[in-house]
Amino acid sequence: MPDPADARSEAPAAPTAGGPASTDVPAEAWSGVHRGPLRAGEWVRLTDQKGRRHNICLEPGKRFFSNRGHFDHDELIGREEGFTVQSSAGGVYLVFRPLLSEFVVSMPRGAAVVYPKDAAQIVAMADIFPGARVVEAGVGSGALTCSLLRAVGPLGRVLSFERREEFADVARRNVTQFFGGTEGQSHPAWELRLGDLAEELPRAGETVDRIILDMLAPWECVDVCSDALVPGGILVAYVATTTQLSRFVETVRAHGGFTDPHAWESLVRDWHVEGLAVRPGHKMMGHTAFLVTARRMAPGEKPPAKKRRPAPGAYGVDYTGPRPLDLPPQVADEPFES
Ligand SMILES: C[S@@+](CC[C@H](N)C(=O)[O-])C[C@H]1O[C@@H](n2cnc3c(N)ncnc32)[C@H](O)[C@@H]1O
Repeated sequence: MPDPADARSEAPAAPTAGGPASTDVPAEAWSGVHRGPLRAGEWVRLTDQKGRRHNICLEPGKRFFSNRGHFDHDELIGREEGFTVQSSAGGVYLVFRPLLSEFVVSMPRGAAVVYPKDAAQIVAMADIFPGARVVEAGVGSGALTCSLLRAVGPLGRVLSFERREEFADVARRNVTQFFGGTEGQSHPAWELRLGDLAEELPRAGETVDRIILDMLAPWECVDVCSDALVPGGILVAYVATTTQLSRFVETVRAHGGFTDPHAWESLVRDWHVEGLAVRPGHKMMGHTAFLVTARRMAPGEKPPAKKRRPAPGAYGVDYTGPRPLDLPPQVADEPFES
């Protein structure tokens, strides 16, 4: 009997449309995903019994070697993923196509990447939708670009800016490899421009729905982002340190054309689940970066003045950064109380 308190139990059965399991995902979806038998030229991920991973591109006639002997790529080509293969010296490898979250942490890197847990937060909290027009800077290694392109789909637009040519080249290769394009033909929603966002975004002259900043000094780009965003558009920054976080938030506040910024971080902890031994995992990634979002007000509109006073001394004599526009005059004289 379905439990009426559980909304999930009332969901209608999933449609079975889509044809047989071996039908490939339509190429025009630009998903970066294939189904059906493994083909020559595809990447697969091998995981050994100790959890070590190897990514290989399948080539007819080629051999995979490890410290547990070897096997031929031809043993994999033509099979449905999700099987094990045994090497000549008894090593057992699990074979799957890599997921996007696996691809971005194993692909070649120029700069540090946005981790999958944060890319997921960005896509959800910046409300990236199919058909959205998104600007991102810098492109770095192209990890976030892949998630953004997945979310906007072929009818959207991701305009990426990167000021270092060598990183742009790495990103181009990674994005092309993930979405399975060829050298001259990448995801149709993607355009990559070289240059500094603060100079190049005004030159692009585009109006966009979302802007994601993953760079050292995002506060330098707040003015150009406010000019490019639609009313209601979302500005996101991904910053590694508290000093960057503070400077970005206060710059957005002082600008006056955005809602009060919302700052947070996400911590993800694995769990060990084995019989009666159910406990948190021993290791976790303690910190990646902080996220900040703010929404663009309509032209000439301001967010409501805050009813609550700032914490004592928050903007007092020791504070030297940008100041919110609506501060009561006396707060400037307060000492900070920690
Ligand atoms: C941490 S990386 C970005 C990683 C990327 N989001 C990813 O997921 O792979 C930061 C990048 O921003 C670029 N950058 C910094 N300031 C920039 C600016 N003002 N305009 C364009 N790119 C910038 C740097 O060259 C660097 O490649």
